[in-house]
Amino acid sequence: MSTWRPNFPISPRRRRAGRRRRKPTEQAFDCRHIAPARGVSNLLRSESFRRDHERFRRCKLNALVKSRQPAQVANRRRLRIKQAAWTNLEPARVPGMTAVPCCVDPDSPVGCLSMGWRLKAMAFRVLEMPGGKHAHYFLQRHVTRTWPRPAATLVSLQNIARRVVEDYARHVGGTPSSVLEIGAGRDLAVPLGLRRLGVAKVIASDVDRLARLDLIQHAARRILTGDVTLESWEHLERFGVCYRAPHDVTDTDQKVDCSCSNEVLEHIPPDQLVRLLAGLRAVTIGITTHSIDYSDHYARSDSSLSRFNFLKYDDAQWRPFNSGLQYVNRLRHSDYLRLFREAGFAILEESSVLGEPSAEIVDNVAPRFRQYEPADLFALRGRIVAQ
Ligand SMILES: C[S@@+](CC[C@H](N)C(=O)[O-])C[C@H]1O[C@@H](n2cnc3c(N)ncnc32)[C@H](O)[C@@H]1O
Repeated sequence: MSTWRPNFPISPRRRRAGRRRRKPTEQAFDCRHIAPARGVSNLLRSESFRRDHERFRRCKLNALVKSRQPAQVANRRRLRIKQAAWTNLEPARVPGMTAVPCCVDPDSPVGCLSMGWRLKAMAFRVLEMPGGKHAHYFLQRHVTRTWPRPAATLVSLQNIARRVVEDYARHVGGTPSSVLEIGAGRDLAVPLGLRRLGVAKVIASDVDRLARLDLIQHAARRILTGDVTLESWEHLERFGVCYRAPHDVTDTDQKVDCSCSNEVLEHIPPDQLVRLLAGLRAVTIGITTHSIDYSDHYARSDSSLSRFNFLKYDDAQWRPFNSGLQYVNRLRHSDYLRLFREAGFAILEESSVLGEPSAEIVDNVAPRFRQYEPADLFALRGRIVAQ
């Protein structure tokens, strides 16, 4: 059984000094006592390995955050070395963990364009003008070629649909006969996936009428089996997918066994989210299940940008960059849990995936975010299943 070692060269002098006596700030970095074992391949996939590794990552994150607090920032050089060790330990280098690099996130249905994020924010502002939504789609289709979505993305969206059905089977039992999806998007990939998995009726709702028949047909060819004709909205309805857009879910809507969303809640302003969750609580008979992306979405199109870049800005500073076309509420996992509970839901399952902020981000977190626990603030994405 070997233990984790720093992946930077240590000089003989530093090694001797390390053997003699380690200073309190260095000890704060030392998570080796809980480092999971390496080298045993079947162990790597086990639940306990993943749990140990999550503890290890949290320990390292806390160590980094503590070390960057002003009173402890005494020796810049040592901190830089330690931080390099911390950031170099990418998840991909750790057995059993999968890296989630910018722009190749397999669960993200949004494409990537190499463009500075400030430039992209400006472009979004321009596209807020009348006709901008059509122009946005035109650019996505013909310039960035984000649409129609590639097969790999459609497969990951099928997996999202599968997770919804599995969540329902685990907490309620059987297959839901009706599911409401919030923010169904342009090609209704998740609703099609749900139909394929045996859900009899799917209500695909969206605040904007974004869906297009050609994109739905493209997704259907890859997701559905057999000969299904989806040439009109009536065909789609007869097939069992009712598209409701533009539409806001309210408590007077038709009741459903299950409600869900994927990469939607982070785009909803907090006051609207409170109303949406109240509506979901009223219409959901069984469970509600959601995947949420907590990262800075500009990092998807700017590979030099941290996925936590937006945490450096207070609300007033961030507002110019937060256009209507790419609005993100910057709420963290704990905020969603609180809002779900306040809406009357009981949380059945919740999890989040921790990212690895650089020291530059940790040093520059805006005051408005400093009350969060590091593991909460630096979560990249999360899942919430509630009843
Ligand atoms: C990133 S897309 C995700 C689309 C789809 N769920 C998927 O995974 O492919 C975000 C979606 O959220 C929708 N949305 C934004 N604000 C919303 C709101 N207040 N209520 C419902 N949907 C909203 C958008 O119209 C868009 O369809």
